[in-house]
Amino acid sequence: MRIDVVSIFPEYLSALDISLIGRAREDGLLDVRVHDLREHTHDRHRTVDDTPYGGGAGMVMKPEPWAEALDAVADDSPVERPTLLVPTPSGTVFSQPLARELAGYEHLVFACGRYEGIDERVFQWAAERFDVRLVSLGDYVLNGGEVAVLAMVEAVGRLIPGVIGNPESLVEESHEGGLLEYPVYTKPSSWRGHEVPPVLLSGDHGKIAQWRRAQQVERTRLRRPDLLPEGPLA
Ligand code: ADE
Repeated sequence: MRIDVVSIFPEYLSALDISLIGRAREDGLLDVRVHDLREHTHDRHRTVDDTPYGGGAGMVMKPEPWAEALDAVADDSPVERPTLLVPTPSGTVFSQPLARELAGYEHLVFACGRYEGIDERVFQWAAERFDVRLVSLGDYVLNGGEVAVLAMVEAVGRLIPGVIGNPESLVEESHEGGLLEYPVYTKPSSWRGHEVPPVLLSGDHGKIAQWRRAQQVERTRLRRPDLLPEGPLA
């Protein structure tokens, strides 16, 4: 998979050099390219922002550098219409199903906004060349898209075949299957007065599976009732 990220803080994305994603890049599973938006400015101050029409606080990212940067990425794309992801608190909420969908695409492009956001016309124009998706990490405000891109690239990247050593570990985790993950324990079985639930030491795999399922349902009911479907669970 090819991933391009455009940002005014390319060094922010250096976390993509390490850990699982860094390894996937070394192994040739992921081709990640980070671009500095300011390379697409043509004034002495390398200006990327200006005051908002209509007034109001803060600055807005100018359309010209974005169009030039995104044109360069689209011209170099391995596909006809790459997916352009724009992290913004006013987007639709990013989720595991969306991560799974994106993991099936050949080319993702991330546009990191800063300040009060990017001139809205950039998204209208970009729709000619990209499938444009505005996505939010959640109902809170970050200073820019970079942290959101790190989260999304990790969520998508780990679903690409070969990136995670043991693909079975992907099946039983939170948000796969619509429920939160069951609690996990390791040795010692007794620790500072806290015991591992005896069923896990019983060797009865049927009972263990049943207990884990019940834990998943109970946790989800307590912490994330919004995830539970109405009516009895299958
Ligand atoms: N940029 C600023 N806040 C954000 C959020 N909550 N999600 C994604 N991108 C953002």
